[in-house]
Amino acid sequence: MSKKNIQSLRGMNDILGKDSELFTYFIENASRIARNYGFSYLETPILEETALFKRSVGESSDIVNKEMYQFIDKGENDVCLRPEGTAGVVRSFIQNKFDRAGGTYRWYYYGPMFRYERPQKGRLRQFHQFGCEVFGVSSVYEDANIIMMIKNILDFFQIKFKLQLNSLGCPQCMPVYRDNLVKHLTDFKEELCEDCNRRIETNPIRVLDCKNENCQKLLYNAPKITNNLCAKCDIDFVKLKEILDYNNIEYEIDSNLVRGLDYYSQTAFEFTSSEIGAQSAIAGGGRYDRLVEFLGGRQTAGIGFAIGIERLLELVKINETKEDVIYLGALDENALNLLTKIAIEKRKNTKTIIEYSPRGFKKHFQIAEKSEATIVALIGENELNDGTIYTKNLVTQEEKTIKIEDF
Ligand code: HAM
Repeated sequence: MSKKNIQSLRGMNDILGKDSELFTYFIENASRIARNYGFSYLETPILEETALFKRSVGESSDIVNKEMYQFIDKGENDVCLRPEGTAGVVRSFIQNKFDRAGGTYRWYYYGPMFRYERPQKGRLRQFHQFGCEVFGVSSVYEDANIIMMIKNILDFFQIKFKLQLNSLGCPQCMPVYRDNLVKHLTDFKEELCEDCNRRIETNPIRVLDCKNENCQKLLYNAPKITNNLCAKCDIDFVKLKEILDYNNIEYEIDSNLVRGLDYYSQTAFEFTSSEIGAQSAIAGGGRYDRLVEFLGGRQTAGIGFAIGIERLLELVKINETKEDVIYLGALDENALNLLTKIAIEKRKNTKTIIEYSPRGFKKHFQIAEKSEATIVALIGENELNDGTIYTKNLVTQEEKTIKIEDF
């Protein structure tokens, strides 16, 4: 009986080969930039109580409603694979009593997120995010700082992007706006799609980012949140635009940008690319000044973002100039010990691989060429006697036998 090979689940991929090279290249450089902006690394569990996401991302959101990998564990706990990173970070912030201690906190994280969506290009069920969260800073300069940091990361990887910006107001102005919007929508409720009809009841502002063309047409004359902000939100939004202008950061105001998670207030933004197809959002984020309170902590300002790593990597090209990789091989068994010593020295600065089996000249080259080596270095009986090493640079084809000390 033939046994069928087991495949990875739909929408869940291995990261290997060229992809894993790109993945680590991205993480290393994004982490370095985050640390330059004053962020330190934080890791939270992948599995959390389901209630955490219901209370933060929101019961009416698609993520919580339709997309969670939720189950009852063996201890009867209702748990869920995290669909995003912010909720866990906020939980940790409160659990560690940083809300009570006060002060400013900046963390970055990366790892897998899970959403049971319909897989397609750029949309996975297990995908990876690189995210940053800031606590305790209510100044709008931090909103600008976060946006500049994302731009800094995207510029490093030479990625072209568009930035969409909106303000979602605050508990003073948003509810008034929401009521106005519902009044406007009620007039042509029948013409709106089924999803929008449901959203009018549960979360009316989500109607604004409905992808249905007909709904978008009907929204043409709808009131805009950016024209209905209270004085404080308006001043902050004007200031944010001023700081971005001052730093030559281009953006578009999109008053229909509401984001798919319920925790935002004031600043909301999305970075998109036109080069990766329909799933064009490469990063998104915003301010969430009430989220700590929603989750039972002391009121603390918060703002953050996450980059979708798989989508971003579609756009990254590793610098074509290759770094050196040394291949060390023994032509004689007696040279192996010496090779281990040379490797320790070389590995301080250069990637170095050792072939443990002594082999002939030709065979070593065959193996080295199949690996990523750029320099082949071999030691046989003659070299051992002379204290030398044979080297060939596979890029320039230059061959030489030199003293080991000079290698
Ligand atoms: P989000 O917009 O839901 O925000 O996700 C951020 C990014 O993750 C998206 O822009 C996209 O690049 C990527 N992404 C989302 N879903 C998928 C998927 N199914 N497959 C591949 N990539 C995907 C958040 O998650 C918020 N936690 C961001 C944030 C942090 N806001 C404040 N702090």
